[in-house]
Amino acid sequence: MKQPRVLVTRRWPEADEAAIASRYDAVFNTSDRPLSNDDFKLAFKEVDAILPTVTDRIGASVFESTAGRTKILANYGVGFSHIDIDAAKDHGVTVTNTPDVLSECTADLAMTLMLMTARRVGEGEREVRGGSWSGWRPTHLLGTKISGKTLGLVGFGRIGQEVARRAHHGFGMRIKVYNRSPVAPEVLRAYGAEQLETLDDLLPVCDFVSLHCPGGAANKHLIDAKRLNQMKPSAYLINTARGEVIDEQALAHALWFETIAGAGLDVYDGEPSVHPDLRSCENAVLLPHLGSATCETREAMGFRVIENLQDFFDGRTPRDRVI
Ligand code: DGY
Repeated sequence: MKQPRVLVTRRWPEADEAAIASRYDAVFNTSDRPLSNDDFKLAFKEVDAILPTVTDRIGASVFESTAGRTKILANYGVGFSHIDIDAAKDHGVTVTNTPDVLSECTADLAMTLMLMTARRVGEGEREVRGGSWSGWRPTHLLGTKISGKTLGLVGFGRIGQEVARRAHHGFGMRIKVYNRSPVAPEVLRAYGAEQLETLDDLLPVCDFVSLHCPGGAANKHLIDAKRLNQMKPSAYLINTARGEVIDEQALAHALWFETIAGAGLDVYDGEPSVHPDLRSCENAVLLPHLGSATCETREAMGFRVIENLQDFFDGRTPRDRVI
């Protein structure tokens, strides 16, 4: 039987690419450059499945311009706000993602950012590399202790819960949660967590706020100037979710005028470009979207895509079907 033709839009770990090549008539983007809108329009005519990722914008115009051979977008990643889900639905295109396998590593990175911002690690590293470190002294680069503090989690899905596990059981932090739907009492109990009704209730009582909600239009600028003003002046904001959740101009303003203490960011609105006002804030730690970036997790993400494809082409509902 003829193998389905699949397009892998970016380079994947070697083991994943080998597994794809052995199962499918695979087209690889060996240049690893992000594909354009026109590339996607063409691909929709030529392949049965596209395996996109966070750097691929697949908007309504891609779906509308074509009679469409592509029947599934098997996304490499858990977030899918780069895909126009309504357009996919209208055109009968299945979309899948890769949850679970990246929760631990993304939670690890949220903890990394929390520690880096609170302990002023970026500032210290810049000092050492820049040759301006003049030696130990009792008042040098004093940061904030994270143990025992209150952590607010915005979104309490798999990644939010992994952060809660680390923060509560590892650092003795008190966990407060804002989540759109009610969280089961036994889940909250497992992390000593309390669910608050609104974001307005959560923000003023937290020493750290970490975002774990989806991106997309629904949460665009969920954290805006008004919300930033609700945070304590001593509080830190952490984002490993999606850049568009924060109004970055308002955040730069808050950091510059120290109406909050600091921010740790792994994702940006319009990445890879980063708002210039954020880049000049000493009290911000800025990472290049590393949440899931471990060999183990990136391989597991590829195998999860393959599992979803296998289900789809065998006529089963893929385990991680989004629509
Ligand atoms: C995701 O999976 O959505 C991440 O942002 C990329 O790993």
